[in-house]
Amino acid sequence: MSYGRVPQDDGRIAPQAKGRPRVMHSARRARRAAWFDPAVVAICALALAPLGCGDLLTTKPPAGTRFDQPLDGLGNGELGDFQDGQTQFRRAFSISEGLGPIFNNVSCASCHSGDGRGIPANTLTRFSRAGDLALAEGGPQIQDKAIPGAEPERLPVGVEVSHRLPPPVFGVGLVEAITDSTILANEDAGDGDGDGISGRVNWVTPPAFVPATEPGAGPGLRVGRFGRKAQVSSLLQQTVDAYHQDMGITSSFRSVENTNPLSNVVVPGLDGAPDPEVGGQAVNDVMQYMRMLAPPSPGEMTPRREQGATLFATATCASCHIPSLRTGAHEIEALADRDVVLFSDLIVHDLGDGLADNRPDGGADGHEWRTAPLWGLRIAREFLNGALFLLHDGRARSVEEAVRLHGGEAAGARDAFVAMSADERAALLDFVESR
Ligand code: HEC
Ligand code: HEC
Repeated sequence: MSYGRVPQDDGRIAPQAKGRPRVMHSARRARRAAWFDPAVVAICALALAPLGCGDLLTTKPPAGTRFDQPLDGLGNGELGDFQDGQTQFRRAFSISEGLGPIFNNVSCASCHSGDGRGIPANTLTRFSRAGDLALAEGGPQIQDKAIPGAEPERLPVGVEVSHRLPPPVFGVGLVEAITDSTILANEDAGDGDGDGISGRVNWVTPPAFVPATEPGAGPGLRVGRFGRKAQVSSLLQQTVDAYHQDMGITSSFRSVENTNPLSNVVVPGLDGAPDPEVGGQAVNDVMQYMRMLAPPSPGEMTPRREQGATLFATATCASCHIPSLRTGAHEIEALADRDVVLFSDLIVHDLGDGLADNRPDGGADGHEWRTAPLWGLRIAREFLNGALFLLHDGRARSVEEAVRLHGGEAAGARDAFVAMSADERAALLDFVESR
């Protein structure tokens, strides 16, 4: 199995790698890349001139033009935690360090390259059978890679399948800090106002391993806000499950290895590392890193973009892509009582048959998706060699294509967009693409 295009340490994607990169490759590259300031490597990647990097590099890119920048206003201690967490986020695991027995990729950063939007090669495949997570068949996700001696999973026949492109991880601390009541205020489950838009909260039950003191945890149903269907309420759950499911790394929260239940060669294929393979500290460091990741700053407003912003509202894009939500109290002061300009309501909407995966997730049904935040688009292409992959599975290659694929509750907004003059459409797109 190929890893497809290999993300560089700074997140930009290197040209198609030839042959079949091995697992150790990434670990080696990560160690080597650690000698360089990633900002420096980033500039090198941009400079196509056949010069040595050493000749080119003097300054870092300006703040706000990368996906891996810390929030403004962090204290020195917090910045130290940010650095520690970044190291963990980028850590590429080898087999002797616990990778596998089955897995999808070797580090958080290998899928969330540069902390921005992912690429199709890193798409996860989730599945269920008649709404059940199909654990006995290897659900809820296919691990299509395995260490020597173990067998990767294969998709069983007759199951509901959902392909999910990695979303960006910048801004998740701000998303976490938005209060439940702020999110609930935008629900309109029965479409009481008759505008055809009826978003609702995905209520979910956090797993028992999430301590009740964590944000988004505690007894009873909680407001889901992470994942493509807002099917996860707690950042700790998202992190622990990513280690366990995506990388085959056990932690003090989930200490039993994930294995292929349909394979009879699992035992000799277990990695040699003692469980848990990472402690609570590493999990916490990664969470703190993501919490403190700043969204890139939006571009300047111009008269044309002002016109685009107005059209964005009149076409009702802004009814789901709500420009700004406010956070509540937070122990990291840089996250507390702030307006978050994310262009999302964080609730789920039916976007029609065309985008449906027909696979329920928590309280969300097979037609519903979380309104994707519209931030960081201004610089997204720069990180992907000029390409862009939008919507839950990356099928749209431009903002315009993503809009034309909206249906269901967003059919009215799509039709309003299509009915605009070419000039108006261009203004709206300029506004969105500059966020
Ligand atoms: C194999 C690729 C892959 C790996 C490895 C991976 N992720 Fe993800 N991540 C995804 C995908 C795909 C999603 C969306 C999942 C969904 O909606 O079901 C996601 C979602 C997330 C989210 C939610 C973001 C949002 O906007 O809701 C966070 C946070 C996250 N991952 C953190 C991590 C961390 C931390 C690690 C490492 C411990 C990690 N991921 C490893 C692919 C990956
Ligand atoms: C009814 C709610 C709703 C309305 C109205 C709506 N959207 Fe969306 N939008 C969504 C949802 C939900 C998604 C995520 C769909 C998916 O993941 O497949 C999305 C995704 C997107 C994306 C892709 C972002 C990414 O990172 O993948 C863009 C761009 C976008 N919308 C722009 C617009 C514009 C412009 C308008 C107005 C013409 C609009 N939307 C109207 C709900 C809406």
